[in-house]
Amino acid sequence: MELMEAVRERRSIRAFLPKPVPKDVIRQILETACRAPSAMNSQPWEFIVVTGQKLEALRAELVEKLRSGAAMNPEHLVVGWPRESVYAERQIALAKRLFRAMDIPREDKVKRAGWLERGFRFFDAPVAIVIATDKILKESAPLLDIGAVMENICLAALSFGLGTCIEDQGILYPEVFRKHTGVPDGKRLVISIALGHPDMDFPANHVRSERVPAENLTTWVE
Ligand SMILES: Cc1cc2nc3c(=O)[nH]c(=O)nc-3n(C[C@H](O)[C@H](O)[C@H](O)COP(=O)(O)O)c2cc1C
Repeated sequence: MELMEAVRERRSIRAFLPKPVPKDVIRQILETACRAPSAMNSQPWEFIVVTGQKLEALRAELVEKLRSGAAMNPEHLVVGWPRESVYAERQIALAKRLFRAMDIPREDKVKRAGWLERGFRFFDAPVAIVIATDKILKESAPLLDIGAVMENICLAALSFGLGTCIEDQGILYPEVFRKHTGVPDGKRLVISIALGHPDMDFPANHVRSERVPAENLTTWVE
């Protein structure tokens, strides 16, 4: 796939076919993604790839924890927006589009809870990738670098016909992730990515999120 097209076509995929992704393909995606730039070539990223029965057990416990109402305990910087801001407006606009596509009325608490759980199940993807960093680094310091490798993973996946959803929902209970994967306490879980073959019969996978035209965001100094 041509580069400009890949960047334009990438979108969040929130349902996957029950078809495994060969380990060699995952390896190639990560190997390519690691060409991302980083400050002074520090490469402050590590990947934990979870598949198969380990992933089934992980998602079952994450959903159980969510249903129990347990407090979430994220160790990464969780995004949040002032209520009256344009950022919150954009978030609401996206949620409306997704819920319309999925026929989830605002007042339908059962359907909304079901939707929320999908993220904690890694959207039933056959692969979950978590990007971790070293806790000896300042919390915000490696985030630009990790953002670059994260987007590279999504674009490289696309070139294999695979879909992705970047999600922090997958690591909102880091203690559960640690229990199933053995990641040591010295590593900070920064973001997760669901990966797999997109299920294009799932309406939300056709939602194209809006963008403010770059021209409205650009100051030309000439
Ligand atoms: C840091 C970050 C965290 C995200 N967390 C979630 C998440 O927990 N659940 C989810 O469904 N999507 C999540 N997303 C996906 C965004 O909602 C999505 O990228 C955005 O709406 C733009 O849509 P697009 O990816 O289809 O272009 C996250 C994206 C980023 C960059």
